[in-house]
Amino acid sequence: MSNIRICDNSDELSTQAAEFFIETARKATRKTGRFTVALSGGSTPRLLHQKLVSASLDWKKIFFFFGDERNVPPDHHESNFRMAFETLFHPLNIDHANVYRWQPEIGNPLEVAIDYAFRTATFFEGFPRFDLILLGLGSDGHTASLFPQTEALEETSDIAVANWVDKLEEERFTLTFPVINNAEHIAFLVSGKEKAATLKDVIEGEFRPKNLPAQSVSPVDGTLHWFADKAAASLLGND
Ligand code: 6PG
Repeated sequence: MSNIRICDNSDELSTQAAEFFIETARKATRKTGRFTVALSGGSTPRLLHQKLVSASLDWKKIFFFFGDERNVPPDHHESNFRMAFETLFHPLNIDHANVYRWQPEIGNPLEVAIDYAFRTATFFEGFPRFDLILLGLGSDGHTASLFPQTEALEETSDIAVANWVDKLEEERFTLTFPVINNAEHIAFLVSGKEKAATLKDVIEGEFRPKNLPAQSVSPVDGTLHWFADKAAASLLGND
């Protein structure tokens, strides 16, 4: 059963998501001595990151991964790593040993995916079970870099893959649904009226996972949370 929090605006959404992050991090570090989180890309998480900078957490016990990445170097303006570095890692002086980023600079997309899968599996000593995976929602129903009608949607065992996206004419790198759905907690952050129709289709619509990949996010043994602002949630329940 998913839990939907409808917030007044993107600022309130980020505040609530930050509180959830902090609460989940404290529980995990109490239980296992560490907190493992996969960050989301795109623009919506920026404000969340900025709010987390003032959180009192034992950042040495927090390990950062990325749900997906663009096929660009880490200093490129479209890099999800760069966004997280500027809004979170640098302000908090996070030790780079606590950051597991994709390495698109390796060059060959398949090798980039194999490398990330290997480093992630080594860290988790097996198939990864993240404490928290943060996700966004594209207006086409994609999440992470699991885009409609793409090969990665069919992945049933790999941890990380390179995923060619025709409509973008670019390669993307993404964690797979088996990893996402193996997480203890999953949280979507969805903001803006341009997402309203998609959010309604994903949550209340017919099950069409090839066209709405976000519908395939369903934790096997965990919790699913939606943080949406009023604009994004404006069509929910309207039939
Ligand atoms: C990416 C993301 C992607 C993102 C959605 C929503 O690398 O682009 O991981 O899945 O979360 O596209 O993006 P916005 O938050 O910018 O609307």
